Amino acid sequence: MSRKESWGSRAGLVLAMAGNAVGLGNFLRFPVQAVQNGGGTFMIPYLVCFLLMGVPLLFVEWSMGRFSGQYGDHSAPFILQRLAPRRQFWWKYVGVFGIFTNLTVAGYYSYVESWTLSYVWHSISGVFQGRTADEIAAFFNNYVLHPGAEALLWWLLCLLLNVWVLSRGLKNGVEAVAKIAMPLLVLFGLFLAFKGLTVQAGVDGARFSSAEGLNFLWTPAVGSTIWDPKIWIAAAGQIFFTLSVGMGSVQCYASYMGAHEDVALNAMSAGWMNEFVEVCLGAAIVIPISVGYFGVDWVVENTRNGGLGLGFRTLPYLFQQWGPAMALLSGMCWFGLLFFAGITSSLAMGMSIMGFLEDEFQLDRLKSACLFGLAAFVLGLPTVLFFSHGVFDEFDYWAGTVSLVVFAMFEMILFAWVFGMDKGWREITAHADIQVPLVFKFIIKWVTPTLLLLVFVGAFFKPENNDWHAVLQGQWVLDDGSVVHQILNTRLKKAMAAATDAEQLQTMQEQLNYVNLSRLLLAITFAGVWAMVYVAYQKRLKKEKQA
Ligand code: ALA
Repeated sequence: MSRKESWGSRAGLVLAMAGNAVGLGNFLRFPVQAVQNGGGTFMIPYLVCFLLMGVPLLFVEWSMGRFSGQYGDHSAPFILQRLAPRRQFWWKYVGVFGIFTNLTVAGYYSYVESWTLSYVWHSISGVFQGRTADEIAAFFNNYVLHPGAEALLWWLLCLLLNVWVLSRGLKNGVEAVAKIAMPLLVLFGLFLAFKGLTVQAGVDGARFSSAEGLNFLWTPAVGSTIWDPKIWIAAAGQIFFTLSVGMGSVQCYASYMGAHEDVALNAMSAGWMNEFVEVCLGAAIVIPISVGYFGVDWVVENTRNGGLGLGFRTLPYLFQQWGPAMALLSGMCWFGLLFFAGITSSLAMGMSIMGFLEDEFQLDRLKSACLFGLAAFVLGLPTVLFFSHGVFDEFDYWAGTVSLVVFAMFEMILFAWVFGMDKGWREITAHADIQVPLVFKFIIKWVTPTLLLLVFVGAFFKPENNDWHAVLQGQWVLDDGSVVHQILNTRLKKAMAAATDAEQLQTMQEQLNYVNLSRLLLAITFAGVWAMVYVAYQKRLKKEKQA
């Protein structure tokens, strides 16, 4: 059905899978999640979620991919369908999420990736030298909120780079890049972590020691905050995002493995490599350095709106405090590692789309890579041009957050309950180079689906102010941030009702229009992918009849 492509080596496969997982989320999203959820208190739910959701999902997605790959299926819809009985034909439509997410996330993800590339250049060319903190922050705000020709050109370059690598195929493209990018990323990360951990109060203008940041990140709070469901939902969300599970890309990569290759040890190697990069390197750079200069309270306050600020506004300024040579080196390493982290993830998104186009529509590698690049451009353009109107956030919320949880929940049910846990366990353990603890059979069947359901319900029906204690006492008033109220645009509508002048009202009306248009675009994309899956299925049926 599809061309016979496969990985060149086991190390290459593991590095590519680790590259898929290690992304901007490890260095920008993780530290911020940790800071915003109580520092050390976050780490315990985070590690528990890794063991009870992340590890099981890795086992399941890797084995699903290897299983369906033997039949020539390399895309989420048909990988899922292969596990289900024939009469349950709808499973392939659940797989639409696996195409939709990669397609829509790739556009804006590659845009952020292009910022890192342009910042490597700006660090080398010395743009930040001698500038004040405000000037460097203004430079970033201007770059992002008013994207000019420069931002667009960097983005196009980044997309072209992705397309070029993808067109070279699995072994000579994706795998070759992972083999270079991942070791360099770790090297750059170790250098910056060393610098980060040695920031001393009174040296190079630092007011505090970076150890204060580390203490904050690693000291669990005593008391009951650890049971706050808000922290658990944040931890689960981070585990999904960082491992790239619930996206469809892990299954796609695994579908190019040999039938007799191990999945258990490979999945653990890639998964733990991601955790090393996230927990050891990700936690040792942006937060400790920023705490060294501004203190814990400032950092907590300034991460409220995400991690992009610290990574792009603050760090380039702080690097300047270390002298011109070190600023250049640190800037190159920081933005270089972000770029490597980003591209190895966006390539996995591309591959997931290409697997579908090649299998089902018999496009060759170059054509499918170009088509992916074009689609990412078209879908990413509104997020670039209307970034300040919230289009980027809207895409990230629906395609990069909600969609992952929905897809993961269904695929887990499919694997453990429809395909069946006995068969599933055989798939996980077949040709395994490690003994998978039997307890995971129980966890995959009962614990992970239950937790996924809880996260799903928790996100959809989040109570007001995240007050789950009130829910336990029978008062379940939905929060404006719950998925249900997000759908209804409650927050924005409340703000509009409270607007005091016509100009304010008009601005909000405009924002509402942008939100609705973003959703329309996302819905059209979803419907389009659905239609393509339907057509592909009809083509398969026709072919079967002819055979
Ligand atoms: N797993 C990728 C990241 O962490 C998507 O950014």
